[in-house]
Amino acid sequence: MLLAIYGSGGFGRELVAPAQHALQRAGRDASDLVFIDDREGAGGGEIVGGISVRKLTDLQPGDQFILAVGDGKVRQMLAEKCKAAGLVPFSLFAPDYFEGVGVDIGEGAVFCPRAMVTTSARIGRQFQCNIYSYVAHDCVIGDYVTFAPNVSCNGNVHIEDHAYIGTGAVIKQGTSDKPLVIGAGAVVGMGAVVTKDVEPGAVVIGNPAKPR
Ligand SMILES: CC(C)(COP(=O)(O)OP(=O)(O)OC[C@H]1O[C@@H](n2cnc3c(N)ncnc32)[C@H](O)[C@@H]1OP(=O)(O)O)[C@@H](O)C(=O)NCCC(=O)NCCS
Repeated sequence: MLLAIYGSGGFGRELVAPAQHALQRAGRDASDLVFIDDREGAGGGEIVGGISVRKLTDLQPGDQFILAVGDGKVRQMLAEKCKAAGLVPFSLFAPDYFEGVGVDIGEGAVFCPRAMVTTSARIGRQFQCNIYSYVAHDCVIGDYVTFAPNVSCNGNVHIEDHAYIGTGAVIKQGTSDKPLVIGAGAVVGMGAVVTKDVEPGAVVIGNPAKPR
């Protein structure tokens, strides 16, 4: 059974070491790890960062996939394509990932080194949580949400499907009565300090974050 990282770009290559750790922890062979790259001219067995690059059609039903693509809508499309080919989503947890009690995480999540989910958070499918990012207590994260590196998502924040949170963004805590809500498909720019709800589809930047 192969474990395929879909996408052999920068982020895909960052996932190689955590994926190798995951295989080792499961007592599996390091050679199980491959990349998928379906772009024209790629996927012919070339080696990228020591890993063989294949096409999706080279994989067999039952092989596993991890999506290394930052755009949540593209991740959804690729997840559906992989599942239609009989592949199985693999959740990747870096060896130093920390998780508190009462956390529920959907299929196909990626937690990079230094990522944390503290307590009683609910997270949907194909969440991508880059290095040094955290999700604090009682947050509710939708499907195909992306955290770039170093995102501080404080307690009682709700983030809807396909939202993208840029590097170093800080999101103020909500309360259990009134969570802070980041709407579906919204983009929070790098370095933004989010103090209020963000409308679905909005792009916000700055401190305090405002629509661009
Ligand atoms: C907010 C964002 C989505 C806007 O992207 P964009 O539409 O391509 O915007 P542009 O790069 O064309 O910049 C437009 C203007 O906004 C400014 N700007 C862009 N992002 C900004 C940010 N995060 N904070 C403040 N200003 C920003 C630019 O300097 C530019 O200003 P100007 O018109 O005075 O020259 C993007 O800049 C961003 O922050 N993306 C997240 C990046 C990230 O975290 N990557 C992680 C990779 S793992």
